[in-house]
Amino acid sequence: MPWSANSGNETSISFEPFKIRAVESIKLNTKEYRMEALKKAYYNPFLLKSEDVIIDLLTDSGISAMSTNQLSGMIKADEVYIGSASFDKFHSAVTHLTGYPEVIPAHQGRAAEKILFQALDLKKYHIVISNGFFDTTKCALDNIGTAALEYPEPKAEDPVASKFRGNMDLEKLKFYLQSPEVYRVALVLVCVTNSHLSGQPVSLKNLGKVANLCRNHNIPLFLDACRYAENVYYVKKNEPEYKDKSLLEISRDMFALADGCFVSMKKDGLCNTGGFLAMKNVELALKCKENIILNEGFPNYGGLTGRDLEAMAVGIMESINEDFLNYHINLVEDFGSLLEKMDIPVVLPTAGYAVYVNASDTLPGIKRSEHPAWCLYCALYIEGGIRACEIGSVMRAPDEREVHPEFVRFSIPRRVYTFAHLQFVADTLKYIMENRDKYSGYQVVQESDILRHISIKLKPIQIQNSSTKSIKESSNLMVKEIDSRGSHTSISSKLNSKRSERDIDQHFIENKQKTSSVKINTKY
Ligand code: F0G
Repeated sequence: MPWSANSGNETSISFEPFKIRAVESIKLNTKEYRMEALKKAYYNPFLLKSEDVIIDLLTDSGISAMSTNQLSGMIKADEVYIGSASFDKFHSAVTHLTGYPEVIPAHQGRAAEKILFQALDLKKYHIVISNGFFDTTKCALDNIGTAALEYPEPKAEDPVASKFRGNMDLEKLKFYLQSPEVYRVALVLVCVTNSHLSGQPVSLKNLGKVANLCRNHNIPLFLDACRYAENVYYVKKNEPEYKDKSLLEISRDMFALADGCFVSMKKDGLCNTGGFLAMKNVELALKCKENIILNEGFPNYGGLTGRDLEAMAVGIMESINEDFLNYHINLVEDFGSLLEKMDIPVVLPTAGYAVYVNASDTLPGIKRSEHPAWCLYCALYIEGGIRACEIGSVMRAPDEREVHPEFVRFSIPRRVYTFAHLQFVADTLKYIMENRDKYSGYQVVQESDILRHISIKLKPIQIQNSSTKSIKESSNLMVKEIDSRGSHTSISSKLNSKRSERDIDQHFIENKQKTSSVKINTKY
């Protein structure tokens, strides 16, 4: 009974509310194989080949399973350049969900946000205020030179408010909007759910107050709403005045508070690609449409095919289905409860789409400067073939690295994994915690300035003796590529150096000593 236990809902059922009609095999591999794969990926699980990953919880984006209705819609799609029936269907679905009359498709969330920022003519002197920016949004603003201010609400004591940890800090927003700098504020952006704050939801009470403040100062309010359905679900569950409304009604109430939204349909929208901009204002929409022609394609396809528009139209209706949301969010919550029972330092309440684990508490022996979350991220792959996502000192912006906790995020793709997969992830985490002294920290050997976690190369720090050939080889390989200051070095200059002897991957030592099995361990 994986997910009915916590739901507290009489009508809930205790199994997946769908039949699995098409499956994709998971290729199993050994710990030895994974250590080699990780070494080849420069100790960056982001660079692993998907076929080498057994359970992939890196993201929930673009990897949901499509339904038979989405797939059949795709076959029937109207593939024409202009006047497509698939666009009309998509347009109606978005208006049905949001109430917004203006709808513009885009190939994914970040494309939609870029079109909006161009249409608002954001400049260096402008300021955008948010409860929490997604990292590409922050990067897009940084690239323009626009200041991005984050005002998340401090931890609330009130029991209802405390269920909405993603809220905006109204006092700070008010203070800023009353300051002489107010003329610089070009946009207020509320992220539902707040992805920067572990995916926590935003209450409609809080959003309503943000909307009033914005209206009083004539500042546009937009939602980054890629996890709209989850937010709506939590409003129904935890905001008493909405408990008798349908999810669709609450969705319209939520969108009505803002002037518009941009949405990545790769998350709650249950699509492999796609996104959109939707809004009330016709003139702003016209500007967006002009920009979309230059960047994405005509406003009736926005860089997408008719098939994608069909998948989005159906995905929108399925995403707001109460049985499905109950199931998915309870699956994630039950995974969180399981980790709690196993004394794994999980962040509670869980997000609707992901579970965050505190890596510093899981691996207390790893210093912050040695990237505990990265260490856990790599250990998960080595021990269980699991790919999660580091949200710690490697991913965070330089000014945030010292202050934010070291998290590893486990995103749960929709309709893809069952509770048995998550049980295996929990067992692997438990094993890592129980063997925490085996793991070493990591050292950066090459990085880029933008979104460095995607391409970064690292190496394990731990110093061990170098008694086996493969250990020496792994050490030499690392040194060949890059030295510890990040500059390229020749193999010959380093092969015999003291440092190459010392730069040994502890995982390789463990592998040589302890792994002889060719199966992945499911029990420890
Ligand atoms: N906004 C939020 C809150 C997001 O989480 C994402 C993507 C985007 C915007 C951008 O959407 O990928 O379609 O361009 N989040 C993914 C993640 C990548 O793993 O959380 P996109």
